[in-house]
Amino acid sequence: MDSAPELLFYVNGRKVIEKNVDPEMMLLPYLRKKLRLTGTKYGCGGGGCGACTVMISRYNPITKKIRHHPANACLIPICSLYGSAVTTVEGIGSTKTRIHPVQERIAKCHGTQCGFCTPGMVMSIYTLLRNHPEPTLDQLTDALGGNLCRCTGYRPIIDACRTFCKTSGCCQSKENGICCLDEEINGLQEFEDENKINPKLFLEEDFLPLDPTQELIFPPELMRMAEKQPQTTRVFGGDRMTWISPVTLKELLEAKFKYPKAPVVMGNTSVGPEVKFKGVFHPIIISPDRIEELSVVNHGHNGLTLGAGLSLDQVKDILADVIQNFPYEKTQTYRALLKHLATLAGSQIRNMASLGGHIMSRHLDSDLNPLLAVGNCTLNLLSKEGERQIALNEQFLSKCPDADLKPHEILVSVNIPYSRKWEFVSAFRQAQRQQNALAIVNSGMRVFFGEGGGIIRELSIFYGGVGPTTICAKNSCQKLIGRPWNEKTLDTACRLVLEEVSLPGSAPGGKVEFKRTLIISFLFKFYLEVSQILRRMDPSHYPQLTDKYESALEDLYSRHRWSTAKYQNVDPKQPPQDPIGHPIMHLSGIKHATGEAIYCDDLPVVDRELFLTFVTSSRAHAKIVSIDLSEALSLPGVVDVVTAEHLGDANSFCLLTIPEQFLATDKVFCVGHLVCAVIADSEVQAKRAAMRVKIVYKDLEPLILTIEEAIQHNSFFEPERKLEYGNVDEAFKMADQILEGEIHMGGQEHFYMETQSMLVVPKGEDQEMDVYVSTQFPKYIQDIVASTLKLPANKVMCHVRRVGGAFGGKVIKTGIMAAVTAFAANKHGRAIRCILERGEDMLITGGRHPYFGKYRAGFMNDGRILALDMEHYSNGGASLDESIFVIEMGLLKMDNAYKFPNLRCRGRACRTNLPSNTALRGFGFPQAGLITEHCITEVAAKCGLSPEKVRQINMYNEIDQTPYKQEINAENLIQCWRECMAMSSYSLRKAAVEKFNAENYWKKKGLAMVPLKYPVGLGSLAAGQAAALVHIYLDGSVLVTHGGIEMGQGVHTKMIQVASRELRMPMSNVHLRGTSTETVPNANVSGGSVVADLNGLAVKDACQTLLKRLEPIISKNPQGTWKDWAQAAFDESIGLSAIGYFRGYESDMNWEKGEGHPFEYFVYGAACSEVEIDCLTGDHKNIRTDIVMDVGCSINPALDIGQIEGAFIQGMGLYTIEELNYSPQGILYSRGPNQYKIPAICDVPTELHISFLPPSKNSNTLYSSKGLGESAVFLGCSVFFAIRDAVSAARQERGLCGPLKLHSPLTPEKIRMACEDKFTKMIPRDEPGSYIPWNVCI
Ligand SMILES: Cc1cc2nc3c(=O)[nH]c(=O)nc-3n(C[C@H](O)[C@H](O)[C@H](O)COP(=O)(O)OP(=O)(O)OC[C@H]3O[C@@H](n4cnc5c(N)ncnc54)[C@H](O)[C@@H]3O)c2cc1C
Ligand code: FES
Ligand code: FES
Repeated sequence: MDSAPELLFYVNGRKVIEKNVDPEMMLLPYLRKKLRLTGTKYGCGGGGCGACTVMISRYNPITKKIRHHPANACLIPICSLYGSAVTTVEGIGSTKTRIHPVQERIAKCHGTQCGFCTPGMVMSIYTLLRNHPEPTLDQLTDALGGNLCRCTGYRPIIDACRTFCKTSGCCQSKENGICCLDEEINGLQEFEDENKINPKLFLEEDFLPLDPTQELIFPPELMRMAEKQPQTTRVFGGDRMTWISPVTLKELLEAKFKYPKAPVVMGNTSVGPEVKFKGVFHPIIISPDRIEELSVVNHGHNGLTLGAGLSLDQVKDILADVIQNFPYEKTQTYRALLKHLATLAGSQIRNMASLGGHIMSRHLDSDLNPLLAVGNCTLNLLSKEGERQIALNEQFLSKCPDADLKPHEILVSVNIPYSRKWEFVSAFRQAQRQQNALAIVNSGMRVFFGEGGGIIRELSIFYGGVGPTTICAKNSCQKLIGRPWNEKTLDTACRLVLEEVSLPGSAPGGKVEFKRTLIISFLFKFYLEVSQILRRMDPSHYPQLTDKYESALEDLYSRHRWSTAKYQNVDPKQPPQDPIGHPIMHLSGIKHATGEAIYCDDLPVVDRELFLTFVTSSRAHAKIVSIDLSEALSLPGVVDVVTAEHLGDANSFCLLTIPEQFLATDKVFCVGHLVCAVIADSEVQAKRAAMRVKIVYKDLEPLILTIEEAIQHNSFFEPERKLEYGNVDEAFKMADQILEGEIHMGGQEHFYMETQSMLVVPKGEDQEMDVYVSTQFPKYIQDIVASTLKLPANKVMCHVRRVGGAFGGKVIKTGIMAAVTAFAANKHGRAIRCILERGEDMLITGGRHPYFGKYRAGFMNDGRILALDMEHYSNGGASLDESIFVIEMGLLKMDNAYKFPNLRCRGRACRTNLPSNTALRGFGFPQAGLITEHCITEVAAKCGLSPEKVRQINMYNEIDQTPYKQEINAENLIQCWRECMAMSSYSLRKAAVEKFNAENYWKKKGLAMVPLKYPVGLGSLAAGQAAALVHIYLDGSVLVTHGGIEMGQGVHTKMIQVASRELRMPMSNVHLRGTSTETVPNANVSGGSVVADLNGLAVKDACQTLLKRLEPIISKNPQGTWKDWAQAAFDESIGLSAIGYFRGYESDMNWEKGEGHPFEYFVYGAACSEVEIDCLTGDHKNIRTDIVMDVGCSINPALDIGQIEGAFIQGMGLYTIEELNYSPQGILYSRGPNQYKIPAICDVPTELHISFLPPSKNSNTLYSSKGLGESAVFLGCSVFFAIRDAVSAARQERGLCGPLKLHSPLTPEKIRMACEDKFTKMIPRDEPGSYIPWNVCI
């Protein structure tokens, strides 16, 4: 053994030698903190988001090949990197050297907004290109399956990818025999070819070519080392952990013999998350390095033997190769495995995770183990005592000691037998999201008939996700042997399996009835799949499947991706140098892509800096009996623990109406309530100490979690808000019909990619404090910190360069955390950093308010709604935050696009024992709008009309009045509606959907179109004021500052466009450094879609002031340069700096009277979506979305389209897959990307078309533009209603005429359970109240 080695690896072509190796250190913190390579980002720490993607390259001295693969740096122990080359985003290009084509194209195709996900995206694409310089689009999108982006909606990233494909215009595949360039699909004329659309968002001709010869070479030293170095075990010893890396099988066995309890870490994708999130600690780790025997690939006479050390991606390639070269009948198990490998995790995890690690982890939701088990695989084990084989069977999977590995044994390889003739293997899974999501239920099924007869000789069925381990339906299979393969047997099989694989009502993971249904739905699919093959093999004996059944086997709609964006070119009379109206790339786009854009946690460490971490309540409503800090304080490196007592009277701050408390005093009101803050000299120590703070609680009554419980306990925040128009009670008397209904809508997590981050630096002089923080509201941070420190605001400065996504979530809670951090920094006179981990962030910060809406509608038989009486209840959580404001906005916007002549709507925010909910993009409108649209859909159903018809009938007329008596001109609304109808070929496609539904029993399509009227304004004049400061320097360059925050929406880019137009100078001459309370004081919060509008008017004002001052000078020397004019102005003592100001829009709202003019203008739009659902699994696919928006005159169409698409996809997530789960004790389960699914690249509509109305004048706003940040979130509900339409079709066909209650989000569970059929009828149901459910619907 090499006892005191140095760790040697390369990063970006440079040698790294680490002498003091800490085996607990992962690559991500090493890169960021030690090597100061901050381009690689932290997004989740658990392999689920892809923000930390890097490329790992290794040389294999035996095959003489270099393998490049993507990997998640957050899960790579640095010790595992010995002899490897790491490439980070900084290594492939930078603005200082040469930008890599991937970096250039993702930026120029507008694939970055906040940019926080971008380095990860770049590295995933880059790595793919290293292996496949001319990939297909499918390969590229597959490579991005493990990368999440919360801003862009992925379409522009796909566009960037497309430019690397061989023929970028074509999908290069003929799915279903149809190529993307074929003109007509399903008899419908395709949308215009994108190339015909003018103008373009980017010019491909300008892109740098991809030249593989320019890439970094693999370090020759590493090759030499691999070839020549003596093979000895390396041992790295740390404070608490020892890392042993054997390099031969013999040494591995010896190490395992010596340390039988030590895990054999391969990809660390199972051990890593356990250590990080479950607190598991391993004092010794054995990590084999390049042991040949663990990588064997052997085609023997009884099957394929695969080394346990092969990565899942390598296994995928091997299997793909095998099925090409072996007869179909021999490859049944391989095909099934390949199917699951296509969706298992993302590319990074598949490349890191090993086959052995996967098998040995025996996760209850393992995708491969059920298949390996039904395929009769055997495990080849080895120890110092010798080798042996065991079966990968039920006993092994349930860790039965007799059937398991002995502690000193290792798994060397796996034998996967060939299938036989008349043997069939199938794989099934259903997850919350199609890709990169653990299965809710998965299954492997195998049947063997033997020669002829169709009698079951062998049957094997395994399920994952339905118990603590992978489960085998052994007895059922046994009982079915000897039976014929027919529907009667299927029926018996379903009943037997349901009995055997029983799930209690309180089973962990919830969704119990859904899981029960999936168990037998998969069985049905298996029955059909096998029947179909049998028929193909022997048509004379096996009947053709009826058409009714065939659709159960088809995959959900999949075709090439296709998108178009249509906007109007600028007026030809506009001067060519004027950038307004042009699709200018995000100002930071290139820096996002090179990793040079700096976010809060990228700031270098300040001398003697400390780290702060919060201790939060584990109880939802309790009295704090005692807090014992002694153990925490005794740990080395711990400096202090701040409690409410220390803060004293500075423990709260009032931003709105009620003060928000910072740290709990004597009671806690939610799980996640901040109790105290531990400060230590490192993050690791602070976290360790936080775990040692002992808090004793005494639970208090009542525990209120849900809206229903709050109503029952009369637990509300004040005031109740009400809006009334016309005479509702009288109107009900005139109505033909009256309908009552309700809908519940779940909340939403912001899931900004950059978690809450702050760094507070005491300046050491005059009590000055600098606060660097990821926030949307620097002035509030300044105020809250100043108040906490009892300082005047002029001593506290808050600086924000950019924010890695915010969406409303970086205001109130950010301020509270910044205040506590500043308090501690002030107390110790040292800089303090506080960066939340993803799980902490999700737990503490709350999100979008869940809503419950009740309504009563009186309407005529033709669909006209005469009277509407509505109640909105939101779940506000434990403190007020912005809950009343959200309710108010919900009420003011609930009418959406409709004129309800008689309307009453009340809104209440419920006080519950959940983390306080807050602002999130759309601010109440996505919830209120959904309730209204739901009511309309139900009215339509009662009238026997299409929802679109009823929507149109009730839409605002051209000049009209809102319920709060503000005048509205709905001309553009109607135009958007009409254009969307036309662009989406609504009528034709509606007929096509109906035809499809009539022909397909198990798959249904749905189509829905929703209109949008989104009022924009902040409700008061003061809230809309904005200021800017513009300096001209003597060299003629210009610096712009304003009060808006760059959080991805591109406000700084637009501001530079404004300065460029006003000063008539090129954009390259104008610079913008960031936002600070030092340059622009008292700036309002950045939010509400108006940041560019308001600040732009201020920038414009400042520029005009300057230009006015300079005009005499310019006119004296019209041919001069800006340098000449600036110098001349200076010489004449003319000020070269100006403040610009905008007072805000006149607006008011009188809630007593229910009248006002709260909004400045309305954004109009419409979206039409088509989906396909799988009635047996609840899966859905968004086939196509068409969006038409009235954007006024766009300042930057690329940024505006980005806002619309990004918001739409975020809305689609809200209404379909994003589901927060709370325990009955109020604990949030969904605390990371593995449990909470935001849309991924697989969720982008197959076709997405966006079109702007022709420019319209909106005279009061900046160049007649409209703010578009929030409105399109609501358009995501077109997908919700399209799914509802598809579910209705399924129900109608099944003769189910009763009311359809579908709540949001419309998850696979809800879709499946609403498509009632013989299987849903078959499952056992639990009496409500007879069990404690795993989760509660809040
Ligand atoms: C973000 C994310 C998404 C995921 N998505 C999916 C998914 O969709 N579907 C799915 O099925 N799984 C999924 N997984 C789980 C993943 O498949 C497993 O974590 C992975 O296969 C484990 O392999 P590994 O090499 O990383 O194991 P490691 O973490 O290195 O080791 C795991 C265990 O196996 C043991 N072990 C490893 N090799 C041997 C050996 N040769 N002999 C004896 N013992 C050994 C170790 O002792 C250890 O206990 C996901 C994981 C992550 C992090
Ligand atoms: S930070 Fe590594 S995957 Fe999220
Ligand atoms: S640009 Fe992708 S997360 Fe913001």
